[in-house]
Amino acid sequence: MAGGRNTTTGPWAVKDHTRLVKETQSGVEEGGLKRAVGAVDLTALGIGAVIGTGIFVVIGEGIGDAGPAVILSFALAALTCLFSALSYAELSSSIPVSGSAYTYAYATLGELVAWIIGWDLILEYGVSVAAVAVGWGGNLNEFLQNAFGYELPKSISTAREDGGILNLPAVAIVIAVMFLLTRGVRETARVNLIMVGIKLAILAFFIVVAFVAAFNLDNLKPFAPQGFDGVVTAASVIFFAYIGFDAVSTGAEEAKRPSRDLPIAIVGSLVICTVIYILVSIAAVGSLDAAALAESDAPLAQALDEGAGISWAASLLAFGALIAITSVLLTVFYGQTRIFFAMARDGLMPRGIAKVDPRTGTPVLLTFGMGIAIATLAAIAPLNQIVKLVNIGTLFAFFLVNVGVIILRSTHPEMERPFRVPFVPVFPIIGCCLILYLMYKLPGETWWRFVIWLVIGLVIYFVYGRKHSLLQLAAQRGERE
Ligand code: ALA
Repeated sequence: MAGGRNTTTGPWAVKDHTRLVKETQSGVEEGGLKRAVGAVDLTALGIGAVIGTGIFVVIGEGIGDAGPAVILSFALAALTCLFSALSYAELSSSIPVSGSAYTYAYATLGELVAWIIGWDLILEYGVSVAAVAVGWGGNLNEFLQNAFGYELPKSISTAREDGGILNLPAVAIVIAVMFLLTRGVRETARVNLIMVGIKLAILAFFIVVAFVAAFNLDNLKPFAPQGFDGVVTAASVIFFAYIGFDAVSTGAEEAKRPSRDLPIAIVGSLVICTVIYILVSIAAVGSLDAAALAESDAPLAQALDEGAGISWAASLLAFGALIAITSVLLTVFYGQTRIFFAMARDGLMPRGIAKVDPRTGTPVLLTFGMGIAIATLAAIAPLNQIVKLVNIGTLFAFFLVNVGVIILRSTHPEMERPFRVPFVPVFPIIGCCLILYLMYKLPGETWWRFVIWLVIGLVIYFVYGRKHSLLQLAAQRGERE
């Protein structure tokens, strides 16, 4: 495998990491991505991708499962993510190229596994954009209701299973974000930074108002009505709130000092979000009865409205949530186009789809195609089902990233690792166990959907990817020579 050659051909072919980095460098020479982003921008990218529908909306379902003990669920989900964040930090600092877990798998576990992860990441990125957009729509209604006493009719603002026909607000926001993304990355980064500032301010506002005007210890009783089981079930759902810190690694090719800045940004954004989530969840469950929060489409706004009795604060929060959630949509949608781009660059997806528009420097066709698919899903799918599908897909990707660290340590002990996970293999193994525990708590129907999704992916790989993979074609040429 030394010197940029592949170990094998066929589905287990591994792409050498030195070759990966070289390809990126030649991309830079050919006018590819520019290394211009520092640790603060990358951390903002992480926070931008993380704080959104999870804390503003899905927390309600978590409270339904765990009661006020949802605070512990946030801690458990954070711990699960922490081990994976360390693994992401090691791999992204050692292999600082686009494509995130997909690319790491190509360098460690082979093409087939890389394909499976890439396909699986569509759940974490593409499908989650649909989920996040549905949460955006819920907050829009809450805002309209609080500020103007008007609500969009249910028929055009929720999916069929939730009593409506189509979710038009969710469609509208996906389409708007799609157009913004086709305008160029620089515009996107600037808009993102502003939105991240607003979302931190709005959550700080929530914490202060809730503690000062509404906190009542009686709301915390009973603390864990469903016991530990409820806490873990809630953790498997609100895990959604943490998804996105790994999106930092999708910006690896743009990082100025990837070996230093990527680990800081990945672990840093997770730690910052964890502290915020724990404070927000304590403030929320202390402000209003758990049952009322669990039923609401916008529980935090509800906590200020009903719990604190300050309607203008609830309107402000719902408006802030709209902005906060938009930044998740932007960064996660952007991450999806980057992963697809990497897969098309390797020939596993049709290369024509990822063509970059010379004027804007963005993959326009790919962005439009994804936008239409995501908007369709957002129009018809109920939030709680897509959230769980996103969670299972993301947990699986995290699992493989932890495994990747262990494998790469033994196959490439000499590789330069600017950041090293401590106590390998113990830490990645603990990470894997926690992940499996949360996956196990997800319902059977989620598992079925996930398995069907993976089977569809496998069929596509054997029908298309395997035959068009540049790595395979290069290896076949090598064999003939
Ligand atoms: N973590 C992201 C959110 O909560 C997906 O919106």
